[in-house]
Amino acid sequence: MNCVPCQEPEFASAPGSAQTKSAAELPQPTLRRAPDPASPANPGTARPTQNQARRRPAAKRRTISSPRRLLTIRPNRRNDGAIPYTNVAKHDHSTRCHHIGDLEARSAGLAGSTQGGDLPVKATSQVKVPILDLKPACDELREELDAAYRRVMDSGWLLLGRELEAFESEYAASVGAAHCVGVANGLEAMQLVLMALGVGPGDEVIVPSHGYIATWLAVTHAGAHPVPCEPDPHTYNLDPDRLAACRSPRTRAILPIHLYGQTADMERINAFAAQHGLFVLEDAAQSHGARCRGRAAGSLGDAAGVSFYPSKNLGALADAGAVTTSDAALAEKIRHLRNYGSKVRYQNEFLGMNSRLSELQAAFLRAKLPQLEEWNARRVALAGRYLKRLRGVGDLVLPAVPDWATPVWHLFVVRTSRREELQRHLAAREIGTQVHYPVPPHLSKAYAGAGWKRGDFPLAERLADEVLSLPIGPHVTPEQVDFVCEHVRGFFGAA
Ligand SMILES: Cc1ncc(COP(=O)(O)O)c(C=O)c1O
Repeated sequence: MNCVPCQEPEFASAPGSAQTKSAAELPQPTLRRAPDPASPANPGTARPTQNQARRRPAAKRRTISSPRRLLTIRPNRRNDGAIPYTNVAKHDHSTRCHHIGDLEARSAGLAGSTQGGDLPVKATSQVKVPILDLKPACDELREELDAAYRRVMDSGWLLLGRELEAFESEYAASVGAAHCVGVANGLEAMQLVLMALGVGPGDEVIVPSHGYIATWLAVTHAGAHPVPCEPDPHTYNLDPDRLAACRSPRTRAILPIHLYGQTADMERINAFAAQHGLFVLEDAAQSHGARCRGRAAGSLGDAAGVSFYPSKNLGALADAGAVTTSDAALAEKIRHLRNYGSKVRYQNEFLGMNSRLSELQAAFLRAKLPQLEEWNARRVALAGRYLKRLRGVGDLVLPAVPDWATPVWHLFVVRTSRREELQRHLAAREIGTQVHYPVPPHLSKAYAGAGWKRGDFPLAERLADEVLSLPIGPHVTPEQVDFVCEHVRGFFGAA
């Protein structure tokens, strides 16, 4: 296993001020002709059109342009305090929520946190500032989402049809890539790219030591070895200066994450990759609309894996993902690999997977895509507010934004040596926080067999101990951010 040499943590001088800029401009999406549903390339998913669902009038649109929910406690749906859904968390991703209402408090807010301990157990609808609440997004786009649902129900076509093709075309245009291939989720998007390239046993792929484990799993599931590379101590993204120490004759690709909504330094990563003949696969799961030197995440490498997990800046209403690339042959191969390796029904040319993005989720994503720029702009404004109000407070380290980056603030992550204390202080005031991520992948049980130990990647380990995500999102209000800032400042004894 190739490891980056251990280094002393270099966080002491991380800047307390950061430069923020306006939200990314997204090009207008364009529509392409939808496929013929009778095509033999599409599996037998069509149902007779006479089975169309009975139409109901469109729900009246409820626009929440400036929600004011700071001190409004929405009524709990049950008075027994129970969470009215079954927790179906498929894996331990502590920020994840699988329901739009109360449940995300379990998995994303206070109770389900890996740091939760004795924090108060409260549902999202009960806290003053939840870390995540997806219902307002559904409310704001209710009419569009209802219409999307009806389109799919009316068509009776559920997989590999017009909605998917239209979404692929619209999303590719929005990032400036020639092709988009919808798949089941972000993890498989990255795995499929590596499979399509033939990256597998004996190969190495350089991944960030600090980030979400899905990036590593994509490499492992493709059969290759993830080789961790420590982050830039200010941006927390993969540090291009450390790439040389990670490269070996077996290295095939670099897989940087655009973490927390800010792109990695792709100019330097691409330059290194070009010098050594390596493929660059972006993990663009957290960066819909983010830009690096004016170009959008998803078009910055040779290909990108995208997640539309519900909590993402562009989230479906269930798991969903995509690959974007301007390489036509690669896109074509992934189209087949996502569908059992089949170009023509029952003719299987590759050892493929079942990783399709459903018509319903594609239709929902089409309803949400035109809203992305506005929702990102709201995140940018809230981040600016945090940066202004939290500068110079205690030992808090604020996110740093290089002048070439246009982040979309998927998360607003601060650092402090008093992380657990601060989290408890905020929880007691009904402010949800989360840790992204508490266990660096190399120390997770999943990779116990790989031989890594504490101390191998000290920057990632220190980040895991210190990072804390404060609430941010298109439906968090400025007043809620002020409320959070007031209590963060209060914790550190700042006026
Ligand atoms: C950085 C990063 N990479 C990959 C993924 C995996 O995406 P998905 O959950 O759609 O498989 C996620 C989502 O959680 C992520 O945050």
